[in-house]
Amino acid sequence: MSFPFDALRRTPDVEGPGLVAVDAADRLILDESASARGRCGDGELVAIGDSYGALALASAWDGGLGVRVHQDALSGERAIVANAARVGLSDRIAVHETLGGATVRGARVVLLRLPRSLDALRDIAGLIAAHAAPDVVVYAGGRIKHMSIAMTAVLGEFFTRVDVTHARQKSRVLVASGPHDGRDPQADAAHVDGVDVRGFAGTFGGARLDAGTRLLLAQLPERLPGGSVGDPWLDLACGNGVIGAWLARRHPEAHVWSCDQSAVAALSARATMTATGVADRVHVVRADALEGRADASASLITLNPPFHSGAAVTGRIAPHLFADAARVLRPVGELWCVWNSPLGYRGALERLVGPTRQVARDPRFTVTVSTRR
Ligand SMILES: C[S@@+](CC[C@H](N)C(=O)[O-])C[C@H]1O[C@@H](n2cnc3c(N)ncnc32)[C@H](O)[C@@H]1O
Repeated sequence: MSFPFDALRRTPDVEGPGLVAVDAADRLILDESASARGRCGDGELVAIGDSYGALALASAWDGGLGVRVHQDALSGERAIVANAARVGLSDRIAVHETLGGATVRGARVVLLRLPRSLDALRDIAGLIAAHAAPDVVVYAGGRIKHMSIAMTAVLGEFFTRVDVTHARQKSRVLVASGPHDGRDPQADAAHVDGVDVRGFAGTFGGARLDAGTRLLLAQLPERLPGGSVGDPWLDLACGNGVIGAWLARRHPEAHVWSCDQSAVAALSARATMTATGVADRVHVVRADALEGRADASASLITLNPPFHSGAAVTGRIAPHLFADAARVLRPVGELWCVWNSPLGYRGALERLVGPTRQVARDPRFTVTVSTRR
């Protein structure tokens, strides 16, 4: 029986017309790698950036093998786990929350959905070259509109041979073999206003301070509600962690809880807290919105919401974050938010959180404070 691709779902990620759990690039990667996968033993296969699990699960199904899988987005990781249960392969899938040497150690075939960032591809390629088996073959594919010639060159920095397959249904696969010069990912570093920011490739802004975040930090008053162990400041969607680290530096007694759904963002934020010397007071978790925080428990939340989901622009994420902030804020608690002015989030903030006043605006960004009604 062939693998039941139709059983795969995107949930808890957004489902909808035109949004698929498996696409032509997944199928091309699987077809191009079929004979190499057939030579793999148990645990020798790895899938990275495997959106909803099509690569890992179809491989586990075909070969009856255990497969390691990493997906940066928490919603994608959860979809993979749910899809594995749906097709009866839960015991064949080892989810690696953090992409590290253990994820690819001894691998002989790596199936990769090409990341958008070349730096992220460089880190993944270097990691594979450093830790996979000497005869590893990497099948790195994607939609042609998201691929560039430079991707072949980046793979060429770590692999002797890189072949490009024929195109099929607007997708293509780069096949890399002969690993050399492997290295573990290094975070970018920057010193920003007393904070030692660290950003691994794939983290929003790297180690840079986003212009919107800079505007938000400039508005935060010296005295803020909360910040105790029992009522820490919450930095929602923390990225490289700069807001939480900045708050902790400025207020040497304060406690902060920072979260992001991206594995690499959580890794970067932890590195930022360690480098800044505030890791004992800033707790970083990988989470969807503020899951794990109790209702009506927080006095202050900061947020610079995303407006991109992968390559697709989506306006759904920010309202999801606003609604969860509203759930977690105690009455009269404050949500400090910076957003791209054209997105006009004020109405959504008023509706979902409470009375919202503008505290700053420049040509690109608006900073608002919403008070929980
Ligand atoms: C615009 S960046 C802001 C990062 C950081 N706070 C800063 O100011 O540089 C938005 C962040 O939201 C995160 N994010 C997206 N959806 C999320 C969700 N459902 N829960 C938590 N974080 C999320 C993204 O991974 C990204 O790091």
